[in-house]
Amino acid sequence: MSRIKNLEDYAVDYRKSVTDPEGFWAAQAERFVWRKHWDEVLEYDFEDYNVSWFKGGQLNITENCLDRHLLHRAEKTAIHWVANDPREEDRIFTYRELHEQVCKFANVLKSKGVRKGDRVCLYMPMIPELAIAVLACARVGAIHSVIFGGFSAQALADRVKDAGAKVLLTANFGPRGNKVIPLKSIADEALEKCPGVVETVIVYERTKDHTSWTAGRDVWWHEELEQVDANCKVEIMESEDPLFILYTSGSTGKPKGVLHTTGGYMVYTAYTFKNVFQYEENDVYWCTADIGWITGHSYIVYGPLLEGATSVMFEGIPTYPDAGRFWRIVDRLKVNIFYTAPTAIRALMAQGLEYVELYRLESLKVLGTVGEPINREAWEWYHLHIGKGRCPIVDTWWQTETGGIMISPIAGVLPTKPTYATLPLPGIQPVLVDQEGKEIKGKGVEGNLCIKFPWPSMIRTTWGDHERCKNTYFSTFKGYYFTGDGCRRDEDGYYRILGRVDDVINVSGHRLGTAEVENAINMYTGVIESAVVGYPHDIKGQGIYAYVVCDSSKLEVSTITELKAEIMATVVEKIGKIARPDKVQIVRGLPKTRSGKIMRRILRKIAEGQVENFGDISTLLDPSIVESIKEGAQKVE
Ligand code: WT7
Repeated sequence: MSRIKNLEDYAVDYRKSVTDPEGFWAAQAERFVWRKHWDEVLEYDFEDYNVSWFKGGQLNITENCLDRHLLHRAEKTAIHWVANDPREEDRIFTYRELHEQVCKFANVLKSKGVRKGDRVCLYMPMIPELAIAVLACARVGAIHSVIFGGFSAQALADRVKDAGAKVLLTANFGPRGNKVIPLKSIADEALEKCPGVVETVIVYERTKDHTSWTAGRDVWWHEELEQVDANCKVEIMESEDPLFILYTSGSTGKPKGVLHTTGGYMVYTAYTFKNVFQYEENDVYWCTADIGWITGHSYIVYGPLLEGATSVMFEGIPTYPDAGRFWRIVDRLKVNIFYTAPTAIRALMAQGLEYVELYRLESLKVLGTVGEPINREAWEWYHLHIGKGRCPIVDTWWQTETGGIMISPIAGVLPTKPTYATLPLPGIQPVLVDQEGKEIKGKGVEGNLCIKFPWPSMIRTTWGDHERCKNTYFSTFKGYYFTGDGCRRDEDGYYRILGRVDDVINVSGHRLGTAEVENAINMYTGVIESAVVGYPHDIKGQGIYAYVVCDSSKLEVSTITELKAEIMATVVEKIGKIARPDKVQIVRGLPKTRSGKIMRRILRKIAEGQVENFGDISTLLDPSIVESIKEGAQKVE
């Protein structure tokens, strides 16, 4: 089936996807190489939660990402990598070369005993080898679990252990901006915290610096590659065989391993990539996300490669060596489609136009954003100064759990509106429901955003705990997948995401559970309890505000400044820098109801700087606490 090219195509496809979802998705799936055709397109049950797409079908996703293109696109660039350091040379991989590298590394994995269904964790910088290794896992049927390089040793250990990974892939160091992350030593520390899980660590030599080593466990990536050949047949997978686990935060303390499977994920990421961005054969596409997040999985690795696209992969950060870095790369590589996060746009906007005006940006055709709500100011700036008023902006709403873009403009097809993700893609049936789970129909309404029909790339389970998956997504509102987001449907029927309605905060597009941050804070000796809330932050979207109750003995020996610094350091140690609270307020108690529940709404208001209209606080055990917190908040920097 061809791409959606105009509003009429969209209407036709959307209607077909609702009246005949199986026929619609089967037609999409036919474009791929299947070793065995499926028997059933869709089976599902939203009660106990089970879903299968293309059951009975057999395939390997890498055959579709790589081998399939060797006939017509062998010499086309698949990945064009740009290093953190602008003086370092680019690395370019054609489809033929990428195929060869993936086959070789797949053979390395096999030589380490990795078999179908085994878990492999990846803790790597944004280098081509990360994409290669992800694909190599998929080629041998291993389940990859990429852990973002900004997570701490403890966070890495928790994930490695939960997944039961046999092999860990890492690099000695990871350059980012003017810093270098010592990935290997963090990995060493993590593995000490979960002994007996990982058998082999394969280490990529990113820099020549000294690397700590555990003989018998650690091996060098380049040395292993010398031992293998470049032929590697694909492992034949069932459509519903797991492809990867990706950990994400929820409203409870423990991150959950979102599981995606093969066939449906493949069909949906390819379909959404080509339609949303309107990718054309010779376009250069660049998504600035890290492969450690779902955006990188679906729209750096799988979606673009499935469509035979040329994709830019960038190791660095937007502001290094200066705030013109993105735009310099856009001009130099003639990037046509550029996909980034609102937080990056806001950060660059704050640096001033002089960094933008040095560049022509005339290759750009389509701009995208993802990860958090984009405010009007940032949208307008992006549209005017980057897109020169010429490029449609696709504000793509989706989640780790959804696997692919769900609500978004189709570039150049659907009229956009600042701050609106606009309309659902074909196959997606969003509904807004009230607190009782009753559907709110019509226009100009707000509610909890749910999806009422399965789509191919939806979460299949949370690794090792299906009950949790069922409870988190399918129990709040019976018969629906619940997204956790609040949403408005305006007079035009356009959707605007209002942010999370659960205890999840979104800091610079990174998702964090308030309970997760609280658990980390509570591990600092001397902390009795804490409550964490999000508050509006100019650049990050949301900042982290922590209210902490300390032991009186601790307060006697430490200053408030010391305590705050140590609490922040504890969070960095337990989770990573992305979770470091922006503000810490030491309080004498938390506003609790008589039944012991923390009234977070009050804490949110205070964090936002609102000190009136707290609503009914008569159920509080000690209302005077509110006054004292309000007073203390004045002094928090
Ligand atoms: C949460 C999912 C999707 C990949 C990156 C984030 C928020 C995501 C948008 C958007 C408003 C958005 C939602 C969602 N979100 N995209 N375009 N507009 N909010 O994936 O870490 O799983 O987070 O990010 O709140 O639930 P994630």
